[in-house]
Amino acid sequence: MTVEQAAPAPGRHAAAGLLSARGVTMRFGGLVAVNNVDYDVYEGEIVGLIGPNGAGKTTFFNCLTGMYKPTSGTVSFRGRPLRPRPQAVTKAGVARTFQNIRLFANMTALENVMVGRYCRTTTGPISAILHGPKYRREERETRERALELLRFVGLERSADHLARNLPYGDQRRLEIARALATDPGLLLLDEPTAGMNPQETRGAMELIFRIREQGLAVVVIEHDMRFIFNLCDRVTCLVRGEKLCEGTPESVQSNPRVIEAYIGTGPEAAEGA
Ligand SMILES: Nc1ncnc2c1ncn2[C@@H]1O[C@H](COP(=O)(O)OP(=O)(O)O)[C@@H](O)[C@H]1O
Ligand SMILES: [Mg+2]
Repeated sequence: MTVEQAAPAPGRHAAAGLLSARGVTMRFGGLVAVNNVDYDVYEGEIVGLIGPNGAGKTTFFNCLTGMYKPTSGTVSFRGRPLRPRPQAVTKAGVARTFQNIRLFANMTALENVMVGRYCRTTTGPISAILHGPKYRREERETRERALELLRFVGLERSADHLARNLPYGDQRRLEIARALATDPGLLLLDEPTAGMNPQETRGAMELIFRIREQGLAVVVIEHDMRFIFNLCDRVTCLVRGEKLCEGTPESVQSNPRVIEAYIGTGPEAAEGA
């Protein structure tokens, strides 16, 4: 692989990337869901990942986060190779949410966020079993941080509600709070506004801007083009597992191949890709 030799992107991206994927390919039997994708995310960016259904967006996230071990290619974060294991990726500082919400349905909102935090706590099993002083202190800090994050996403009043009883939009925000609890440097959001009404969608956009203000980079998969183009510094379009184009929201939005990929209904629509 040519990870280290990769030329730096032009302009303000001359600095080293935060996340860097090279030649990532994911095959399922005969299907190539992601095909030889190079991808960079830089500090403090909000970047969009778009593409028609089945383009490979979620599969690519799964490759970046160790849910899948790519058939080939490498992913590195802060200059270090990422082991393709979800826990290792979380510890390294990459967090995500899921297209199909994955919360602990029978736990409260607060407990869901606390679970996210446990990857950063250090209490050993003995101290935890004995509820020793270190355990109690960490537990208190974990709870306080989780409450702070619930406030940050606007769910403080739902702290004691079971996740399954929360409205859909709130569940999405709770997933974001849980992801933030892992102290990431990069947050990957898979269709964060799916199922949201326009007001909730505006709230989600504002939340993502506030997350960036905290120093994180964010990658967003979304179908809502207005959302993507108002939110993102850069946009990448995937079609049939391949990068079709990448650039400013304006350049991607007006790219005839992108328009064709979206408007076309059959596989021929992306043939030019
Ligand atoms: N675990 C899997 N096994 C087999 N095929 C899969 C699997 N996950 C995704 N795919 C296939 O890979 C392609 C890309 O899917 P996906 O990444 O979910 O697309 P997107 O998120 O862009 O809609 C689709 O054809 C899908 O059916
Ligand atoms: Mg998807």
